[in-house]
Amino acid sequence: MTLNILIDCDPGHDDAVAILLANKLANLTSITTVAGNTDLANTTRNALALVELLGTNIPVHSGAYQSLGGEVRDAQHVHGKTGFGGTDLPQPTTEVASEDAVSHIIEQARAIDDLWLVAVGPLTNIALAIEEYPAIVSRVAGLSIMGGSTGSGNATPAAEFNIWADPEAARTVLTAGLNPIICGLNLTQQFLSDDDFVETLAAADQRVPSFIAELYTYMHERMDAIVGERRAALHDPCAVLALTHPQLFEFEDMYVDVELSGELTRGMTLFDQRRTHARNPANCRVATKIDAKKAREVLLSTLLDNSST
Ligand code: RIB
Ligand code: CA
Repeated sequence: MTLNILIDCDPGHDDAVAILLANKLANLTSITTVAGNTDLANTTRNALALVELLGTNIPVHSGAYQSLGGEVRDAQHVHGKTGFGGTDLPQPTTEVASEDAVSHIIEQARAIDDLWLVAVGPLTNIALAIEEYPAIVSRVAGLSIMGGSTGSGNATPAAEFNIWADPEAARTVLTAGLNPIICGLNLTQQFLSDDDFVETLAAADQRVPSFIAELYTYMHERMDAIVGERRAALHDPCAVLALTHPQLFEFEDMYVDVELSGELTRGMTLFDQRRTHARNPANCRVATKIDAKKAREVLLSTLLDNSST
């Protein structure tokens, strides 16, 4: 059965890899963009430029430029001002299909019987779609997100960036009854790029692998400066691979909610991992382990597959 995917993203280095994977391994019906790693203009430009690099005509719809609460966050210190630091794709010639990602998500959910939503940025667009069309919860095949953490955060000691950027949206989405697959930092930090990964892509001397090699050369320089090692978690691709290659993962059903008011913990995803009968009923499927070696093999073979898209 065809795996139909709509990706909501904030490209972003790892978002780009997630898009490439979805385009090759599934039926990527459309892309919606949200502000996150950089501002909406740049995340949208990056999505359009990437689609052109892929030589496909996947429609891009732009969405929220700020959180539900009017906050604007970014991760430019990691991804660069443009969001595609280290590369210089030509200015896209195509326009966005619309500036109303929320309506597009709702229309797609209504039109496609088994549509998976993959959200790898702040969850603002998804939350607005749920608020406007609550039936989306029963219409879509499911939701797979990169976000949160059962352990430490990255944006703050407690919060992962995608959740921290819009905690109210995250609570709406994660507690809407979608039983989402959650690839948090506890999972994604098991799946790392390194210089060998970059060299393998660069050696292929093909347009798309070379672009990813440029992205991750930059990312490794940033991670070296920030944490002192030339490796980067391949966060967003995990949310796609959890759908295309679930056999590479272990999952555990858990209860999750999002802290909204904690002075030190706002944006934290609190997973109920108690082993007692008092534990809250599960409302999500947490990816707890990934076979990183096999996942890298899948990732490289997909990125290096230069057959037509
Ligand atoms: O915390 C990692 C997440 O934040 C990834 O989705 C990355 O692209 C950034 O958006
Ligand atoms: Ca992202």
